[in-house]
Amino acid sequence: MGAGRPIIAVSKKLIRIILPVAGLCAFVFSAAAQPKAAAANSYIGSEQCGLCHADLYKGFHNNPHYKSIASGKESPEKTGCEGCHGAGANHMAAGGGAATIRAFSQMTPTQVIDTCLSCHAKDFSRANIRRSAHTEADVVCTNCHSIHNSPTPKFLLAKKQNELCYGCHEPIRAQFSMPSKHRVNEGVMQCTDCHNPHGNFAPSWRTGTGSNLVTASHDNEEPCLKCHVDKRGPFVFEHASVRVEGCIACHVPHGTTNAKLLKRPVVFTICLECHNGAGTFGRENLSVFVQSASHNMLDPKYQQCTQCHVRIHGSNADGRFLR
Ligand code: HEC
Ligand code: HEC
Ligand code: HEC
Ligand code: HEC
Ligand code: HEC
Ligand code: HEC
Ligand code: HEC
Ligand code: HEC
Ligand code: HEC
Ligand code: HEC
Repeated sequence: MGAGRPIIAVSKKLIRIILPVAGLCAFVFSAAAQPKAAAANSYIGSEQCGLCHADLYKGFHNNPHYKSIASGKESPEKTGCEGCHGAGANHMAAGGGAATIRAFSQMTPTQVIDTCLSCHAKDFSRANIRRSAHTEADVVCTNCHSIHNSPTPKFLLAKKQNELCYGCHEPIRAQFSMPSKHRVNEGVMQCTDCHNPHGNFAPSWRTGTGSNLVTASHDNEEPCLKCHVDKRGPFVFEHASVRVEGCIACHVPHGTTNAKLLKRPVVFTICLECHNGAGTFGRENLSVFVQSASHNMLDPKYQQCTQCHVRIHGSNADGRFLR
């Protein structure tokens, strides 16, 4: 837990809130009780919290965390309010205050994560939450989730998902307004169809380092294949680029002015990034088509690569993807 706010700040707040209710003695008691806070403390049960925090307690039965109260089977340190805020006896005796309770307003990002993961660690056993780009940037649970004031019916999000993500990734919004795009702004899909905000072990299809927020779908594949199953194959003749570099060798994932979410406006310029005579494939340098027997680049029709190579993602009939 954090060191706590300066006594002065706590006192001011307490005076404002408690004085009208309990009179000066509550304030004196609070200040006096603090040094002893580390001594005996015990669990008092959520109903007791409700005596002073009536609003929060009243709405709490709709919260998924209410289940721990309803079941009556959890140990006190895992039940209700105290499951997150810790034992409340000292806090109650002191008449409130941030220094006598586990208050999130006083926590460091690491302390927040530790508190939430004390119960949720197994939910993220397949994610790499402690090494995710978000955790490393000190973006933690409470930046995205609101336990007491969530406007979303599921997942206790601090805001509706798109707005939550755009709140920190504003430039991405414009990408999803481009002529060629995935319809995220229209509500057809959402960021988490492709990203896991909690992190991921780097999927094998992208040999990036550390944790990667792009979600792997089945069997560590690209998230794209979850929806575009026809591109999964296996094909008798695979276009190696699809397997090895993945979809984003040729496509942008969010949006672009180019048709079909392609990386470049003119298709053949994408092809020539690889089919340029360099490397271990492409027997011909297609960028100097005039020298090529099969492709006459002076004839514009040869620039329409995919008019002939129609099965560009892979074919079961032809090794040149012509059918
Ligand atoms: C799942 C964890 C969790 C549980 C359970 C929980 N809280 Fe909280 N509480 C938080 C977090 C996190 C905050 C910080 C504000 C935020 O991020 O929404 C908070 C903030 C508060 C605050 C400060 C005022 C505010 O709204 O910011 C009070 C008071 C409070 N909680 C009381 C309670 C009471 C009473 C209960 C039981 C009815 C309870 N909490 C149950 C996590 C929890
Ligand atoms: C005797 C009344 C009383 C009881 C009982 C009580 N509180 Fe509080 N609590 C207060 C007052 C007063 C404050 C200070 C007002 C504020 O900061 O919102 C406070 C503040 C808090 C805060 C916010 C600290 C901060 O500034 O971030 C949390 C969290 C909290 N209480 C949780 C609980 C929990 C959990 C329980 C039950 C275990 C509980 N309270 C029981 C009176 C009480
Ligand atoms: C004392 C154990 C405990 C702690 C601590 C705890 N949670 Fe939970 N949380 C649960 C349980 C139990 C559920 C309900 C799971 C279910 O519905 O089966 C839950 C549900 C949730 C859900 C909703 C999942 C859904 O499917 O809608 C979110 C989001 C969540 N917790 C976030 C948090 C955050 C953020 C924190 C830290 C501020 C936190 N939890 C701390 C036990 C805990
Ligand atoms: C960058 C934002 C972000 C952060 C940080 C974050 N979450 Fe989430 N979380 C989300 C979103 C968005 C969803 C909803 C996912 C969906 O719609 O499928 C979610 C879903 C969940 C769920 C329910 C579904 C599941 O995946 O199990 C739980 C539980 C949860 N979060 C807990 C936590 C806890 C605990 C932390 C901190 C250790 C945390 N989250 C950090 C954004 C975040
Ligand atoms: C509180 C601010 C905040 C929120 C909310 C947030 N992010 Fe982030 N996100 C960051 C920061 C900071 C980083 C790390 C620095 C960076 O790369 O921009 C990051 C990194 C990322 C990355 C990795 C970027 C990279 O270059 O590898 C992705 C992907 C991402 N966030 C997606 C999301 C999604 C999806 C959501 C909504 C569920 C979300 N973020 C919500 C702040 C946030
Ligand atoms: C169709 C799948 C898909 C959807 C939907 C999606 N992303 Fe992405 N996003 C990706 C992929 C794949 C990358 C990695 C691109 C790369 O490495 O070149 C990425 C990269 C990013 C990055 C890091 C690179 C950058 O451009 O800054 C951020 C941040 C990001 N996405 C945020 C979001 C947010 C926010 C949303 C929702 C509004 C979202 N994404 C929706 C697939 C998607
Ligand atoms: C959640 C499902 C889903 C995921 C995941 C997904 N897509 Fe899509 N994709 C769609 C839908 C639906 C369309 C149809 C276009 C629309 O919605 O307007 C589409 C359209 C496309 C198009 C054609 C666009 C056009 O203008 O005809 C391309 C290319 C594409 N997606 C590539 C990808 C790539 C690359 C990824 C991974 C980074 C991906 N998709 C992930 C659902 C998905
Ligand atoms: C070698 C470059 C390349 C790679 C890699 C690639 N694509 Fe494509 N893709 C294209 C081209 C070029 C088009 C446009 C075809 C046309 O103009 O007829 C296209 C069109 C599409 C379309 C829209 C038309 C259709 O066939 O449904 C979707 C969807 C699509 N790609 C998804 C994917 C997915 C998913 C992946 C990864 C598994 C992927 N692409 C990998 C080059 C590529
Ligand atoms: C990211 C690199 C990359 C891109 C971009 C790319 N390819 Fe390929 N392509 C390959 C690789 C690697 C092979 C496999 C070569 C081999 O096995 O010798 C291949 C094979 C082929 C083959 C079969 C060649 C043979 O000899 O069997 C054709 C046809 C082909 N590509 C056409 C295209 C077209 C058309 C485009 C543009 C839409 C394109 N490629 C974009 C990497 C790429
Ligand atoms: C008019 C139809 C047509 C167009 C347009 C076309 N190709 Fe081809 N391509 C073919 C045919 C037919 C073959 C098989 C020729 C052979 O076996 O001699 C072929 C073979 C290939 C091969 C395999 C030959 C080798 O050298 O390994 C590659 C790679 C290739 N094309 C790439 C491209 C690229 C890149 C474009 C666009 C710049 C393109 N093609 C445009 C018809 C076309």
